[in-house]
Amino acid sequence: MEYETVELDDKDDALVIIDQTKLPGKTEIIRLKTAQEMWDAIYLLKVRGAPAIGVAAAFGIYLLAKQIDTADYSTFLAEFRKQKEYLDSSRPTAVNLSWALKRMEKIVTDNRDKSVEEIKRLLKAEADAIKAEDIRVCKTIGEFGLTLVKPGDGILTHCNAGQLATSKYGTATAPIYLGEERGYHFRVFADETRPLLQGARLTSYELHSSGVDVTLICDNMAATVMKNGWVDAVFVGCDRVARNGDTANKIGTSSVAIAANYYNVPVYICAPTSTIDMNTATGADIHIEERPAEEVTQMWYRERMAPEGVKVYNPAFDVTDHSLIAGIVTEYGIAREPYEESFREIFARKENAEYD
Ligand code: MRU
Repeated sequence: MEYETVELDDKDDALVIIDQTKLPGKTEIIRLKTAQEMWDAIYLLKVRGAPAIGVAAAFGIYLLAKQIDTADYSTFLAEFRKQKEYLDSSRPTAVNLSWALKRMEKIVTDNRDKSVEEIKRLLKAEADAIKAEDIRVCKTIGEFGLTLVKPGDGILTHCNAGQLATSKYGTATAPIYLGEERGYHFRVFADETRPLLQGARLTSYELHSSGVDVTLICDNMAATVMKNGWVDAVFVGCDRVARNGDTANKIGTSSVAIAANYYNVPVYICAPTSTIDMNTATGADIHIEERPAEEVTQMWYRERMAPEGVKVYNPAFDVTDHSLIAGIVTEYGIAREPYEESFREIFARKENAEYD
């Protein structure tokens, strides 16, 4: 893609993003400077997808910290925490948001002996590191994911866990992009992903513009393409993985997983370790965001498609039970049942790698 999903313009004190609500019709780059603009951009899904939200929050809190006009550490810390909590309240399900903000806060608290100016410099370095890591992590997930499929395979994906949801490559799309570079010629099925159409507007746009063989289907067609024998594997991203392997991802993922299990199609979740939340025991403990009724009743339609006043239930995510998942692909290998044990090994690998 010609543009970065999330970028920092340090000279102009701006967080620069593609407004994803305008895609695919219009590529509009917007510059966010205030806490309110950043909060709105995350809530309104101008920037979305768990890793991209994390990177945006890291650059965002750095820019807000830069605006704190004091040399006194305690005053700086109090104001920093206020801004951090505000950004953290924009969306509840993707753990990468709080994960990135906590990482940034740790820079402030670990360096209390340094000047506020120096802390601001360290915050920028940390935000840059979070973005650089995201790119490296996605590519490695792609390499591991590629070992699970073979040339010519049919792959179904749900929502957008692509380049637009990360800094580069995506998570669920990383094996697809790497496979494409290596002549695998996958046939990809992208669910449209009601109600916000991330699959139609973003995934089919991304893959189609990259020359990948992609077919767009409505969500309710996934079981049919599986029954037809066109799908060899499901690759999806995720917003939070609980300790037992239960996984929250875009609403509809669990129906895809149930259908895939029925038709003996393996379901792989692509998850950077930053999305695995060992403090959350099971999927039942994950806070699922609920969004406005209008997203279901009228958004995208020329006119309202449901009676005024009808009750609407609009959860943005669902939880796929770990028993339906064939493997969770991380940047440190593929986790399998029993997940808690497998995650502990993966985190040990990560720790050793970081201290090599
Ligand atoms: O509401 P969204 O568009 O932010 O939901 C995004 C998803 O559910 C993605 O699959 C998930 O964040 C993983 S992105 C690599």
